[in-house]
Amino acid sequence: MSTPLNIAVLGCGFMGRAHSNAWLQVSHFFTLQHKPVLKVCCGSSNDPAKLNKFREAWGYDSVESDWKKVIDRKDVDVIDICVPNHLHHEIVLAAAKAGKMVVCEKPLAMNVAEAEEMVAAVEKAGVANMVTFNYRRVPAIALIKQLIDEGRIGRPYHYRATYNQDYTISPEVPQGGRALWRLDAKVAGSGVTGDLLAHSIDTAQWLNGPIRRVVAHTETFVKERKHVDSGKVEPVTIDDACMFLATFANGSMGTFESTRYARGRKNYNTLEMNGENGSVFFNLEDPHLLDFFRYADPISGKKVEDHLTGWQEINVTNFEHPYMKNWWVPGCTIGYEHTFTNSFADFLSSLEGGPKFEPTLRTALSTQRVCDAVLESAKKGSWVEIGG
Ligand SMILES: NC(=O)c1ccc[n+]([C@@H]2O[C@H](COP(=O)([O-])OP(=O)(O)OC[C@H]3O[C@@H](n4cnc5c(N)ncnc54)[C@H](O)[C@@H]3O)[C@@H](O)[C@H]2O)c1
Repeated sequence: MSTPLNIAVLGCGFMGRAHSNAWLQVSHFFTLQHKPVLKVCCGSSNDPAKLNKFREAWGYDSVESDWKKVIDRKDVDVIDICVPNHLHHEIVLAAAKAGKMVVCEKPLAMNVAEAEEMVAAVEKAGVANMVTFNYRRVPAIALIKQLIDEGRIGRPYHYRATYNQDYTISPEVPQGGRALWRLDAKVAGSGVTGDLLAHSIDTAQWLNGPIRRVVAHTETFVKERKHVDSGKVEPVTIDDACMFLATFANGSMGTFESTRYARGRKNYNTLEMNGENGSVFFNLEDPHLLDFFRYADPISGKKVEDHLTGWQEINVTNFEHPYMKNWWVPGCTIGYEHTFTNSFADFLSSLEGGPKFEPTLRTALSTQRVCDAVLESAKKGSWVEIGG
């Protein structure tokens, strides 16, 4: 007999769809005690027809336009936060106080001060919690973690991350409104640093350990844009692009780059690591592939014969690869939406005595500390140590 778990998804946009799909699919593909039930979806009140359409599309029991009423409901177990960033703090505090489990989208908060209060709230309430840094659950990225743990990269020297897009190049793109709230600092907190580099930082710290200090440069290429709410042209105060250098606690060096002005790049989220035994390269635009360079075998201790060294492209679809035994047969790829399903599978499994779920809000706080330090460094023009 499965145990129903009643889900409330707040926000019916891009992530509202991705999460609804994952909650619906997870118990079809993973063997779990819990069976998520789509109880209520909540969106802004200004478009009830759209909200009802969303409810019908995903099969929610009910619809609500005030998130506070959702939190008051006794028939809701999980508050899943898929609304813009400036709302995360207040909702997490209220959800924790009501004893609900919390699923929160990234970036965790607008800044470290908010994030610390959110961590304190969920920990005081003792509620299960997670932040949807879903790229940890791309099978190829999870395989990198396995290769590192097996010693196949060896002592790491370099970590290189890029996260590039091109959708804000035109000065005609407004700020505010659906999705484009990302260009409004009052709603987003920051630009590419919180939106895209937060993902890269979470992945980097998971794979390569804590970042100790950073030095950053940011740029805002289009200084003014029309605001959807006011209808007026207003200053743009987010970072359009950000580059930073980092030193990791393990002594390796990192470079991070993100922009929404890389013509032709849509979701170019890459990472490369170079270590003494090998290297890896991953690009989210080819998510089933992992490039691996093997120099030495940590198990035999032998160097690979010179005439056999070279980059190997691994098609990460075998049953032996992370998550893949739950999906299709080898050679059949999975994609973006599955990273959310894999995340919820691990979260539910942790409720059932499986491995502790990561990243929690506490772990996401460490990413928030790096994001805040990056923005501070860009302002000061000097290195900033990571606090906390
Ligand atoms: N994990 C990822 O890869 C990923 C990807 C995209 C977005 N995100 C994050 O997810 C969150 C949502 O982003 P999105 O792209 O889905 O945005 P979106 O603009 O597509 O959707 C946001 C939704 O929130 C609703 N909303 C706004 N104010 C509300 C309120 N007061 N009450 C209820 N609903 C309200 C809007 O109506 C809209 O449906 C953000 O924090 C974002 O950073 C994460």
